[in-house]
Amino acid sequence: MNKRRILFVCLGNICRSPMAEYVLRHQAAERGLSHLVETASAGTSGWHDGEGMHRGTRDELKAHGIAADGFSSRKIRREDPAHYDLIIAMDDDNLAELERQFGRRPGKQFKLTDLIPDSGYQAVPDPWYTGNFVETREIISACCRELLDRISDHSL
Ligand code: 4NP
Repeated sequence: MNKRRILFVCLGNICRSPMAEYVLRHQAAERGLSHLVETASAGTSGWHDGEGMHRGTRDELKAHGIAADGFSSRKIRREDPAHYDLIIAMDDDNLAELERQFGRRPGKQFKLTDLIPDSGYQAVPDPWYTGNFVETREIISACCRELLDRISDHSL
């Protein structure tokens, strides 16, 4: 089975999308599915280009034994849609910006929370504003589990 290249996208690329990038990679390794996914992340803004992830994201990952090293924030690039199989946004604003720049691609470009329609979340809450990195990791983890399930059973 081909490796799926997955790009997670948020606004700043220091809180939510790096968390999703590292959580999915960790879950894949735990489940022996690393051969199925390649994960990366980017931001729509470029405001934090070259910076590491937010301390709150890093601490939350580390508290759960998830590697958080080697990260550098970057802005989305024109060539991303050609390289990545799935481009997964954290909220409606991210998705709208992706659609503005890359066009509408519902099967390839969607919100992470769309994977669990009955979760009660329409978007991944942004801890830059909420300060709640625990809640953000919990919904990201649940959605990433679903994403891996779907990739491994060929439904995505
Ligand atoms: P993120 O959160 O999009 O999840 O990385 C934010 C990070 C930085 C800013 C806003 C949101 N900011 O305004 O700099």
